[in-house]
Order: sequence, then structure tokens, then C-alpha cells
Amino acid sequence: MNVSPSKQPINSFVTWLLLVVLMVHSKAVLSVSKLPPPEICGEDGCTIVNYQGVWNDRGSCKAANAAYPRTEEELLRAVADGVRQGRKMKVVTEIGHSLSKLSCPDGEEGLLISTRYYASVKSVHVNKSEMTASVDAGVQLRDFVRALAEDGVTVPHTPLWDGVSMGGVIATASHGSGFFGGRGSVVSEYVTALRMVIPASADDGYAKIITLRRGDEDFRAAQVSLGLLGVVSKITFSVMPMFKRSLTIQLAADDDLEDRLLPFSRKYDFASLFWVPSAAKVLYKLETAVSTEEPGDGSNGFPLVQPMPVSRIRAMRSQQDAVERSGDTSELCAAGKSMVESRFSSGDGFQSSPGRFDGYPVVGFNHRMQTVGGCQVDDALIKPSDASDNQERWTCKWDPREDQRIFYFHTAVAVPLENAAAFVRDVKRLRDASPQAMCVLNMFGGIHVRFVSASSAFLGDQKDSAVFELVFYRSLEPGQGRLHQDVIDEIEQMMLFKYNGKPHWGKNRDIAFQGVSGKVVSNDRFLAVKTKLDPDGLFSSSWSDALLGLHDTFWTIDHDHCALEGVCICREDRHCAPSLGYTCQPGRVFSAAKVCRRSSSNFE
Ligand SMILES: Cc1cc2nc3c(=O)[nH]c(=O)nc-3n(C[C@H](O)[C@H](O)[C@H](O)COP(=O)(O)OP(=O)(O)OC[C@H]3O[C@@H](n4cnc5c(N)ncnc54)[C@H](O)[C@@H]3O)c2cc1C
Ligand SMILES: *[C@@H]1O[C@H](CO)[C@@H](O)[C@H](O)[C@H]1NC(C)=O
Repeated sequence: MNVSPSKQPINSFVTWLLLVVLMVHSKAVLSVSKLPPPEICGEDGCTIVNYQGVWNDRGSCKAANAAYPRTEEELLRAVADGVRQGRKMKVVTEIGHSLSKLSCPDGEEGLLISTRYYASVKSVHVNKSEMTASVDAGVQLRDFVRALAEDGVTVPHTPLWDGVSMGGVIATASHGSGFFGGRGSVVSEYVTALRMVIPASADDGYAKIITLRRGDEDFRAAQVSLGLLGVVSKITFSVMPMFKRSLTIQLAADDDLEDRLLPFSRKYDFASLFWVPSAAKVLYKLETAVSTEEPGDGSNGFPLVQPMPVSRIRAMRSQQDAVERSGDTSELCAAGKSMVESRFSSGDGFQSSPGRFDGYPVVGFNHRMQTVGGCQVDDALIKPSDASDNQERWTCKWDPREDQRIFYFHTAVAVPLENAAAFVRDVKRLRDASPQAMCVLNMFGGIHVRFVSASSAFLGDQKDSAVFELVFYRSLEPGQGRLHQDVIDEIEQMMLFKYNGKPHWGKNRDIAFQGVSGKVVSNDRFLAVKTKLDPDGLFSSSWSDALLGLHDTFWTIDHDHCALEGVCICREDRHCAPSLGYTCQPGRVFSAAKVCRRSSSNFE
């Protein structure tokens, strides 16, 4: 079945629909401009931004200069220079894709160490007798998985988005989904050894190289380090012989979601799902490992990370803005239903062969089914023949260089599996209390649910968990409320504080990190290793110290409007936007939640 765009309902504020349509018609070739690096350096020093161009707190972040090592020797020298000068340091990557303030050094005199030129795919070294693969930390996931495939091996799980560096992936405990492989879907669990450059005494030349191996105490800290221990130079992963994945999507009502969640997660190797509460529907992804003998050359063409012409990005954003301004969710609610139908019938971005979806199951090589990208690189691109905008720039929908772009919050929280059913039931009760509110989640496809295992890393998850991800509108202007933000914020606080969920280190708003040090495997043991490897805290910042519970910044933020940005939980109305009608009120289902709610009647 080839999907015809003319039969698709086009609600262009629903980014899913539009992009599924975009993908399927291919003819002309054009090129995409590469995404910019996180640091912009000039004579006055460097400014660092996250991939959306705006930090959680809308604050700025500066450093004095950046080093661009190309070899491990240069890396060693860069760290030694920083240590000798007693400077704060942070690793930045080629196109940094974390949201949170991890790569921002304290003060304005810090040193950035970029891994963008420490990223040769030639560094990938596969050892088939021990089934391991080592790689320089700056190499992009996209290049790494392809190099492994050429050698007939694969890492069972990776994140969905391939525009990330291997160093960044393990620093934040990035993951795929499911319990296959014995250690679950967090990529750090497949690391067997790490070579790191860490600070040293003057006698040792101010920096030294160490190797940490699975089994060492320090290794468990370095496995998920948030970049706080030094610079990871080389990573060794355990790999498997290449296999294929077979994917079938099932569209079902959500009435038994809470009961199905657990058995579903255990039954399918790479189980994941999208829940669209406003439509009361679930897209269950039944995904399993199969032999490479199984026929099929399928791949993930996940539409949200494909390049788009700038004019379409603008059009989508202005539709989203219009919904926000009018407060009318009726179209968005209707779009939820058509979205699940069209995603189901079009393969939800999965392709049986390039540009085609021929029905389920879609079978393809592991790396091509598990990770995807395209909008971040300047590869030649197959462009839809019906696009009239030949001269236009094509890019990622979040490209920070565009004023009018898709700009959003991204909340991702690992809720212990034992609490997941109760959480789902609470969201349903919240839906009963405010049905319209759930429709705002349709702007970004609903709630994505993936599964991760209890971790061996000190900063990893204590328990097997379901990661719930909510992507929702953010205003480019500060100080604005959001449509139905009370409900989304209540869900966020429920996941975090009622059901003890642990936030993804690289995503989320600052409030998610309140109390996170109590939710990891062992904050104390991580801190002990940090003191040993980086005694002066040169790789730490005040923000990261707050993550580790060393001070309580996240609890004490008190400025006007802070709850609108998710940097505080409101305690007073001024933390919301009383002049716009948003006041601080308790949650409807989780009464301990405190949310900014707009009381004017047309928003109810
Ligand atoms: C569109 C999109 C999709 C995503 N999909 C997923 C997903 O499916 N699953 C998931 O789990 N996450 C996902 N993420 C989150 C992403 O995987 C993480 O934010 C990841 O950390 C980004 O890697 P990066 O290379 O961009 O690192 P950065 O964001 O640049 O860095 C992250 C941290 O790692 C540190 N660091 C990086 N390299 C090194 C090094 N060599 N040595 C020491 N410290 C280092 C940095 O200093 C920083 O503290 C997604 C993000 C986006 C934008
Ligand atoms: C692979 O690893 C084994 C065991 O560590 C080692 O003896 C061998 O030399 C390695 N092979 C290659 C090609 O690096």
C-alpha cells in the first residue's frame, strides 16, 4: 500500500500527519544545511545554547574559549591546560542535543572541549573474537551504527535519534526500548570499558588517561557520568552479531492499557507504544528480534526527524500559535483520531523499502529499524516531487537559527513499572475531569512510552521502568501561559512525585530534577568517585551540583512566572501569570500538585 497524500487529512499543526505525507513522495534531490554546533565563539568568548536555542530558564551561558582536539594527545593537552589554569570545563559535542543545562560551565571564564573533530569513523574498531567495538567519543551515532553494520555486528539498543555523539549518549543514559539483550535498552549498559582523560596533579602533568572496566567501582560512575568526571575519550561496547527486527503495529482502544502495559513490555523484545489519550487509542509497537535470514529491507523513517522546508515549519508553528491564542481545541481533538488512524495505516514512519510501506510486519536490519535522522546532516536528500519551494532551505523543525520554529518542552520520566498502571489510571481520571485538555498532546503525537531496565550505573534507574514522554508547546516569548497547562503540569508532577519517576538527564524542565539524587542507584557512590577523579570539581557546575543534591537550588527558585517555564512549582500566584488569568492551584487528581490554571471560562 502506497499512501496517497490526497487521502490524508492535513491538519498542519499536527506535525505527525504532515510529515508522514511529506515522506512518501520522492523524486528530486537537494541538500540540507547541517545543524549548527552548540557553541558560538568569537573574540568576546563563547556562547553556548541547547539544541532549541533556549535554555530551560531562558538564561544565558558563556565560556571564554573552546578547544578542538583531533587526537587523544590533543585532548590530554586541552584538559591539562584547563587544570593548570584552574578553569571550569565542559565537553560540548558536534551538534549537542540535550535540553538540560549539562554542557554549561559555571561563570564566564570556562573552557569548552569540543569533540566535534574527535569523531573519525575510522576510529571504530570491531573485535570479533571478544565481540566488542570501540569508538572515539565524538563519533555520531549515525556513523557508528553504520560502521558496525559493515562488520556484521550491532549494539542491540540505541536512541531513536541518530544526531547524537556516542559520548553524549552514554553521559545521559540515553536509551531505546525493551528488555531484549539481558540488560535492557539503556546504551550505557552495553559499555565494557572507557578510556578517560581526567585532571591530575602538577607532577603528573595536570591531566592523565585512565581506563575503567566493567567490574571497577569507578566504572559504574563513568558509565553515566553527565560529563562530571572528565572527558571520555574512547568507549568500548559489547556487540552482537547483526540481527533483524520485525515490527507490527496494533491500533487498540486504551481501556485496558494499564493491564496490558506490563505483559506487553515483557512479551516483545523492543516493545514501545504511543498513547493518544484524547482519542482513547494506543498504537502498540510489537517489535521483536528475528534472524537476518528473515526477508525484508525495512527501516525507520520517523517523520519528526526528517528534513522539512522552512516554509512548512513556519506554517506548522503558526497553526500551533493560532490554537494557543484561540484556546479552541476542537480541531486538535478531531485530529487526534485521524492521526492514530493514518499513523497506523501508513506504517507510522516505518518503510518496507525506501519510500514504500507495504503493510506489517516491517522487517529490517537492527540499526535501520532502531535509529533514524537526516535533518541534521548535509547529505543529499530525496525531496518530494510536489514541493514547489526549490530554493528553500530544508532543516530540522527545531533548527534554532529559524525564528519561527517548532519550539516545545520535552518531559521524559522513567516511572517504575510497578507504579505504571496506577499512573495510567490517574491520567485517565484527569482526562475524565478535563477531556479537552488531553488534545494539546496531539500537537506532538501523544504520549510515547518506552521501557528500560534497572541499571548498573550509579546515576541510572533503580528499577525496571516505563519511560513516559510528553512533548508540548512552548512559547517563544517568556512569561506566557499555555493552553491547558494545568493538566499537563499535573501529569508531570504526578509522574515525578506521586509515582517516584526519574527524569531523563538530557531532557526535561528544571522542576523534574527536584530530588533526583534520591532516585538513582547510588548518588553517594557517584559523588565519592567524582571526588576521586575530579577533586576540584572543574567539570562540575552549580547546576550539576544541584542535580547531585549538593544544594537545593531547584526548590528555592522564586521569581515571577517561574512556574510557566517549569523552573519552579508554583507556591504563589505570581509564579504563574495572574495578569493573564493563570493562578496557582492544586491538581485535580493529584491534589498535592500545584499548577498554574487559567480560570476564564472559555478555556474549560
Ligand atoms: C530529536 C531528539 C530525539 C531524541 N531521542 C532520544 C531517544 O530516543 N532516547 C533517549 O534516551 N534520548 C533521546 N534524546 C536525547 C539525547 O539522546 C541526549 O540528550 C544525548 O545526551 C545527546 O547527546 P549529544 O551527543 O548531543 O550530547 P550533548 O547534549 O552535547 O551532551 C550531553 C552531556 O554529555 C556530556 N558529554 C558529551 N560527550 C562527552 C564526552 N566525550 N566526555 C564527557 N562528557 C561528555 C556533555 O558535557 C553533556 O554534559 C533525543 C534528543 C532529541 C533532540
Ligand atoms: C581482540 O581481543 C582479544 C582479547 O582481548 C585480543 O587478544 C586480540 O588481539 C583482539 N583482536 C584484535 C583484532 O584487536
